[in-house]
Amino acid sequence: MSTATDRPIADALTAIKTRRSVKEYLQTEIPKEWIEELLDAAHWAPNHKLTHPWRFHVFSGTGREKLVAARQASVRWAAEKKGEQASEEHLKFAKDKCFSAPVLIIVSMVGDDKKITDQENYAACWCAIENLLVAANARGLGSYPSTGDWIDQNFVGPVLGLTEKERPVACIFLGQSEQATMAKRLPVDKHTTWYTEA
Ligand SMILES: Cc1cc2nc3c(=O)[nH]c(=O)nc-3n(C[C@H](O)[C@H](O)[C@H](O)COP(=O)(O)O)c2cc1C
Repeated sequence: MSTATDRPIADALTAIKTRRSVKEYLQTEIPKEWIEELLDAAHWAPNHKLTHPWRFHVFSGTGREKLVAARQASVRWAAEKKGEQASEEHLKFAKDKCFSAPVLIIVSMVGDDKKITDQENYAACWCAIENLLVAANARGLGSYPSTGDWIDQNFVGPVLGLTEKERPVACIFLGQSEQATMAKRLPVDKHTTWYTEA
């Protein structure tokens, strides 16, 4: 593993454009200071009225075990909705996902009774998530954000001790990765309109 001084650091545009979601991680432990640097980058995201709506819950090592029951509960819930029983295969997949990266960071948010503030807080959380993903890439780490039933249906809430005002936003998988990725995007001019005259 590289030391603190020889770690890569990419400029912002390169880090943004070369960030890709990766799903295959080495189990190499990630030093706490590296994660703290990424959380600090996340914390500098824009957030209206400085509500700081994000909360970060970091799971690593055997701490990841805490997530298994929540993820498996969502598998059982999805199966029951279809009138089925969760298969051992799906339950195992759910468990394995919790250990698929050395670090999992669940981002939760503080909601608000006012719809506009609530929306702004949710949007700010995703700004923070993107900051973290880009910073991770700049530092040579792989990542991806995920949602899914265990997040959307708040199965993870009890693990995090979330209050009624809070809800989970996403789970970020983080670690060193050697997975090859392919960048795919349409040309930006397909989605851009310019207004240059009165
Ligand atoms: C709001 C949001 C939710 C996502 N949820 C998932 C998810 O549940 N599972 C997953 O594999 N990827 C998830 N992703 C990652 C996207 O699939 C990924 O960003 C997209 O395929 C583009 O690839 P790239 O990140 O390499 O550019 C999510 C991304 C966003 C922005």
